[in-house]
Parts: sequence; structure tokens; C-alpha cells
Amino acid sequence: MAPTQQNLAWSVVGQGAIGLLAACRLQLHGYAVSLWLREPAPLSVIFNTLEHQQYSCYFLPTIAPIQHSVVAVKAYAVASCLAQLKPYLAHHAQLIISHNGMPDLDSLRQFAGVDQGIWFLSTSHGALRKKGAIEHTGEGQSSLCPLNHAAVKATPAVLDAMQAALGPVTLTENIMPALWRKLAVNAVINPLTTLFNCRNGALVEPQYASTIQRIIAEVCELANAEGMALPYDSTLQHVYHVMQATANNYSSMQQDHAQGRPLELAAITGFILKTAAKHQLAMPENQAIWQTLSAD
Ligand code: PAF
Repeated sequence: MAPTQQNLAWSVVGQGAIGLLAACRLQLHGYAVSLWLREPAPLSVIFNTLEHQQYSCYFLPTIAPIQHSVVAVKAYAVASCLAQLKPYLAHHAQLIISHNGMPDLDSLRQFAGVDQGIWFLSTSHGALRKKGAIEHTGEGQSSLCPLNHAAVKATPAVLDAMQAALGPVTLTENIMPALWRKLAVNAVINPLTTLFNCRNGALVEPQYASTIQRIIAEVCELANAEGMALPYDSTLQHVYHVMQATANNYSSMQQDHAQGRPLELAAITGFILKTAAKHQLAMPENQAIWQTLSAD
């Protein structure tokens, strides 16, 4: 029997909120999903959907070679994770990388072998990882971009799987506009929920409005200096939309901070400050966030 898309094997690397959300949703759509686990033991996870349904998901550890993989690890761990995975990849493997912050798309491309497809996916879904459980806390959407020719060739199967995992998905040849919009979202929500120790939805309170506006104005100014149109009004609207859609969520940075894990600050606020320095632009609001959180 010719394999259907659903029985193509997917391995999920990274058991954070987005990795587990993708793994559970893929499994519920009938895909054969395994997890790249440190311990070679199966993992059971309770999956709570946005519609308040509960499913029990069960994952076996991935057995190499990896055919298709969602790599959802923190920005600072991507390079070492890909280097570690490389010997275990099938020669025609497809790798979908997803993290917060601005990726270096050229170094990701260089990682893939000739027949290996490499993709970047940016998502605004919200999810919370709890002990033995994953909760989908905020409806989002995703942009998916093939980064090389081997990825383009595999588009139908990968797009179908990503619709199941983190849909609705928009397929794009140029992910930069989506990455800048997501950067604006993360530059506001992640540090502010960390500093004020609150859920995403709390940021809609008026006392945060002027800080939010200043952060967004800085990100838009920077995007324009980089030749990217990022209009202030629609970006502000989008950021408020994500806060409301993920109101119940604790952002990934808030969760990392609460649990004493490293923060993804360098790929978000750090990227903004580094790029601003190239253009000799002052970013006082982002600078203040960096000073407070990087000293933590
Ligand atoms: O990092 C996060 O938490 C997420 O990117 C988002 C969209 C802000 C939802 O919490």
C-alpha cells in the first residue's frame, strides 16, 4: 500500500509547549509521531484542547533515521540541537524549525544536506506545559516557509502536516514580514509578562499601554531601517489581538523565568538592540528591558 500522508513518520524535537502541542495535534490527526527524548522511555501526555476536550497522547522515543521532524527548541539551543540531530537524519529528511526571536535563515539553510528540506515556521499559538499535560491556551496561526529546494519539492506533505500541527498555516516564500510581526509580539508580551509576572491577557490593562506603544514604535522604526515595512497601527492592533487570543497563557519567557530556566532574551530584545546599534538608533524601552532582565 502506498503510504498516505497521515502515516508518514514525524519526530518532534523539544518538549516545550509548542513542541508538545504540535506532537499531540499531529497524533490526533492520525500521524505516526514519536518524540526525540533524552530518556529512551515512552511519554504519556494529557492534551487539553481549546474546546475543553481532553485526550490521552502516548509517544514512543524516535528511532533513527528521522524522516520528518518539527524542531521546536529555544532559539539559543537551535544550533547545538541541529548539530546533534545531523547524524540521525534520513538523507531526504524534512526539518521544520520553529522558535521565538529572529532566526538566522542562512545558517539554518547551511545545515541541510542536498536532499534535506529545511523550513521555518513562525506561530502565534499559545500553549502551557504542566506536569504530564499540555494545554492549548490560545488560538493562533502560523506562517511556513521552505528555505531550500528540497523543501519546496516536499511542500504538499509538509504543509498538510503543519496544518494539522499548528494550523491554520499560510505558506510563504518570504517569511520576513511574519518574523518581524512575531518579533513585535514577543518583544512586548514576553518581557512584560515576565517583569510583571502575569498572564498575557493582563497586559491589555491601561497601565501598560504607553510602555507597549513605545516598544512597538521602536520595533517598527527598526524594521523600517532594515527595509521592512512594519506599519505602527496594524502592528499595535496585531499585538493586542495576540494578547487577547492568548489571554489565559503565561508566555514562554514568563514560564522560563518562573522555573529558573535561561530566557530567550538574546533572540528577541538582544536582536533588536544589536540591529539598532548597526543603524545607530536608540531603543530606550528595549534597552531598559534588557538591563533589567539580562541582569536577572
Ligand atoms: O512565547 C510565547 O509565549 C508565544 O510566542 C506567545 C505567542 C507570546 C504566546 O504566549
